[in-house]
Parts: sequence; C-alpha cells; structure tokens
Amino acid sequence: MDHFLYKNGALHAEDVPVAEIAAAVGTPFYVYSTATLLRHFKLFDDALEGMDHLVCYAMKAASNQAILKTLGDAGAGMDVVSGGEYMRAKAAGVPGDRIVFSGVGKTADEIRLALTGGIRQFNVESEPEMQVLNAVALELGVVAPITIRVNPDVDAKTHAKIATGKSENKFGIPISRAHEVYAMAGAMKGLDVIGIDVHIGSQLTDLAPFEAAYNKVAELTEELRAQGHNIKRLDLGGGLGIPYERSNEAPPLPSDYGALVKRTLGHLGCEIEIEPGRLIAGNAGLMVSEVIYVKEGEDREFLIIDGAMNDLIRPAMYDAHHDIVPVVEPAAGIEMAKYDVVGPVCESGDTFAKHREMAPMKSGDLVAFRSAGAYGAVMASEYNSRPLIPEVLVNGDQFAVIRARPTFDEMINRDTIPEWL
Ligand code: LLP
Repeated sequence: MDHFLYKNGALHAEDVPVAEIAAAVGTPFYVYSTATLLRHFKLFDDALEGMDHLVCYAMKAASNQAILKTLGDAGAGMDVVSGGEYMRAKAAGVPGDRIVFSGVGKTADEIRLALTGGIRQFNVESEPEMQVLNAVALELGVVAPITIRVNPDVDAKTHAKIATGKSENKFGIPISRAHEVYAMAGAMKGLDVIGIDVHIGSQLTDLAPFEAAYNKVAELTEELRAQGHNIKRLDLGGGLGIPYERSNEAPPLPSDYGALVKRTLGHLGCEIEIEPGRLIAGNAGLMVSEVIYVKEGEDREFLIIDGAMNDLIRPAMYDAHHDIVPVVEPAAGIEMAKYDVVGPVCESGDTFAKHREMAPMKSGDLVAFRSAGAYGAVMASEYNSRPLIPEVLVNGDQFAVIRARPTFDEMINRDTIPEWL
C-alpha cells in the first residue's frame, strides 16, 4: 500500500497534487511519501515483535538524508556498503551503534572510518577482509564486532543480476567452509565474533528460498555454539520483493516474512537484524515526467518523455516493469492507446515500456512511474549531460525539495581543464 492516490481526478502524493510539485520544481523529478516510508518500516518492525530485533534499512535503495532521517528518527538502523553511505547515515543523525557495514570490498580506509566513528558490526565477507579488519582494529586499539556472511548456496529465484546466495556469486564465504573461517576469526584479537549474516538476493517474491537459507543458518548457529562461539546476533539481510505490477499477485507480506523468521530461528534466542531496502522505499516513491512528443512510428506510437534511462535505469538494466500512470486520472471507459514509452537518450535501450496500454497522451501531459522509490535516484547518472533530477519529500500537505536540480553551470563546472589546455 502507498499514499499515491487519485483525488478529484488528480494524482496526489499524500495530500499534495503531483501537478503542483511539477509546477514548482519542473520535470522530471522523484517524489517520496513520508507516510509510506514509515508505514513500511513499521510493518517490518511489527513483524518481528516479540523478538529482540533491529530493522536496518538498506540505504543503497534510496539514500537521501531526509529519507534516512525520517527512518532513523523512527528508530531504524542502517545497512551501509561504503564509506560514503556510512558518512551519509551519520550526517542524517543515525548513531554508529545502529549502523551495520556490509559489502564485499570494504577498504582499510572505510574500515578505519567506521571503527573511529562507531559501528554496530561489520558483516565480513571474506578471509582477506577479516585480516585487514583485524589489523586496523589492533592498530586503533579497539575490538571490531563482526558477523560473517555465509553464502548458503540457495537459489533466490530472482533476476540473475540481483541474486547473491548461489555459490557462483561473489558474496559471503561458502557455508561449507564456515567452521574453518569462524575458528580463524575467533583466534583474532581485534575481532569479536558475535553472529552470522546472510543475504540471498533482492526482489524475492516467494518465501521458500528464505526458508531454506534460514534453516541452514539455524543449523550453523547450533554447530558454532557447540564449538564455543558466542553466536548471539543473526543478520538476515533484505530481499523481500514488492508488487511492481498492480495486476500481478501480491508477494508475501512483511508479517508472513516475520512469521517465517520466528518459525525458523525463534528458538535460538538470538537478536535478529534485517536489512530491507526495496520494500521500505520502492513503493514510497514516484518518478514524474512530462511528455515531450507523441511520435508516429511505422507500426507504433512513441511517447517521448523528458525522463530517461539515466534518471531511472531499472528497465534498461533489469528489464524491470514500472507501472506508468497519467497524473490526470483518465475518464472512466476511455479508449486506451498503446505506446512505446521512451526517453531522449541516444540509445535504443532508453525504453521504459513497449506496447504499454495507457490513456491517450499528448505533449505537456504528466506521467508518473510507480514503484520508483528504490534503486531509482541512487542509480541515476548524468549521461548525455542531463543533470541529476531533483528529489522531493512529501509529508501530509507539505512538500520540500530534498535535493535540488543542479544548474547546467553547476554540472559542467565540476570538470577542471588542465592548465596546458
Ligand atoms: N542487504 C544486502 C547485503 C544487500 O546487498 C541488499 C541489496 C539489501 C540488503 C537490500 O535488498 P532489498 O531489500 O532492497 O531487496 N539495483 C537492483 C537491486 C540491487 C540490490 C542489491 N543489494 C534493482 O534495482 O533491482
């Protein structure tokens, strides 16, 4: 559920007409709903009620500080994967003891940053990383709390580019080697081994792969405890999918997921951490764009809009579907048209949808891409020298620009010309 609804024939973000935001900030832009962000966070928080837990928002999904502060103030922790994300979370006011550091390639500098600034735990992904982390901790005279990410060799049954839990993926250590690696970690003086981490992929629409992975984690917890490791925290990653197409069957709910966590891991008495990104931010954001031209092709009509693949890359990169809806509600019973919805970038891949059935559109009309809150703005680039599009946050009847559109000068003045030119 989200808070982008038609009221009196006009699409609203909570209580603000989307067209009003467009008039104020220009198109294209992203708009997020505070109520939706908070609702989704609470769904997870409630789903784990009764267990000691922390919901660590995977901020890679949407990392504007206003979003982080909204969630952080509600009690969320953050899952970060780079020094930049760590600094952003801190800048948004999230305390270090609510930040977990994931990622396969943490550098010594990033590790130092987090150890100095405060960190809840590192999710270690390899032996060489463990050695560097140990060395940096010893150098700083501190002990780094860690979980070790295990790769359970489970097929997440999602798009290949976002599956992470199979043995051929670069993530985690093979679960078959866990005993050996935990023994090594246990012997390192700069590390405090407190738990196990697992994350098998993103946009999972079936709970079975989670169940298979969590059963393996339960088994491993008991084995490691028997070997003397004090396993007290389980980080279960993110990955629960969202309904991108309204017409499709809805994926499992956070409450179903929470029940699964309790069923598979509840008996262990561990503190549970989860790292949802998409489910919190995905349906909390729209990308809004204006139709530039409606162009007649040989056998089709193109809807050429001012948003492009550099602004929202998911369709080009993952063949992802986003519902595209007109900002003015179409009259009931109106005859539908079919469009290829494309952006102005000079690549055929700059196609958002083919043969998409929509109400008839004309130049100047506004359209909204639904489910664009996660992996939208954060994956944008300035390809074709198109300035990064602004982000707007709505809260009830108010809205604020939370990242302004750079001017052309701001964009081009980031380049510096060497003095020999
Ligand atoms: N934890 C870890 C360690 C992750 O790698 C990820 C996502 C998450 C949590 C959050 O997963 P979520 O709950 O959002 O599914 N750009 C792609 C998605 C990449 C996901 C990467 N890792 C897309 O647009 O579909």
